[in-house]
Amino acid sequence: MAESTNRPLNGKTVLITGAARRLGRASALALARAGADVAITFRNSAREAQHTVIDLSSFGVRAVALRCDITDQKSVRRTLKEAVKELGGLDILVNNAANYETAEFEKITLRQWDAIFASNTRGPFLVSQEALKYLRERRGKIINMGSLGGLRPWASHAHYCCSKAAVHMLTKVMAKALAPEIAVNCVAPGMIDLGDKAAAAFMKRMSKLTPARRNGTGEEVADAVLFFATAPHFITGQILAVDGGLGL
Ligand SMILES: NC(=O)c1ccc[n+]([C@@H]2O[C@H](COP(=O)([O-])OP(=O)(O)OC[C@H]3O[C@@H](n4cnc5c(N)ncnc54)[C@H](OP(=O)(O)O)[C@@H]3O)[C@@H](O)[C@H]2O)c1
Repeated sequence: MAESTNRPLNGKTVLITGAARRLGRASALALARAGADVAITFRNSAREAQHTVIDLSSFGVRAVALRCDITDQKSVRRTLKEAVKELGGLDILVNNAANYETAEFEKITLRQWDAIFASNTRGPFLVSQEALKYLRERRGKIINMGSLGGLRPWASHAHYCCSKAAVHMLTKVMAKALAPEIAVNCVAPGMIDLGDKAAAAFMKRMSKLTPARRNGTGEEVADAVLFFATAPHFITGQILAVDGGLGL
């Protein structure tokens, strides 16, 4: 009884993309702490991925890191097969990998627009599509990472905001299309302070504009991912802002 309360994801398997570092790593750790076996993917951060695997394993779960480019169908297909082979199945997919870029509207090139959409929108679509057959077998869950920028227009992030707004809609469409077997939800973080020194002044400014009077932490975003991972299957198609009220 105590075991199922402390480790509600015991016996569950998770694939989380782009989780070598930052928010993906925080979510992977929260899910492993809750008892899940976890496969993380990385693209360039091989060293950080190995470090994260060691930390995940310290919770007594199975952990593995796989290289994957979410814009490439072959790479995604291979990763899904390897993850399922390593973990024995798939219960939860977390579409975390993405790119963020600041650019004045007039200066966004077609190449920049397409690159952001390829990773942020087409990526979660592609990984989800490839994961479907495995998730259906387990009555699984998909958790997408959206953004407050997908709910509110940020003038210097048109391509990013549109790519994340599309992820929010993808969440709702998939929740309907993949029901009743698969529940699909989305976490939309606001200003999250990950200790980046270059962003310190901006973060300070944003904390003053936030009703909570501070920025969020990686652990708070991870807790929202954990919430959907452990939530009743009846909760589906939801976008959960984790923003201290900034979007209100
Ligand atoms: N940080 C925030 O404040 C914030 C706010 C709102 C929303 N979010 C969303 O929350 C999620 C995590 O945020 P984050 O700041 O931790 O993300 P991040 O550091 O910008 O990116 C996470 C990982 O995505 C991977 N990635 C990028 N392009 C990829 C591709 N084509 N194929 C495979 N992997 C790729 C990178 O892996 P490698 O390092 O291995 O190359 C990177 O480490 C993202 O979806 C982000 O948009 C974050």
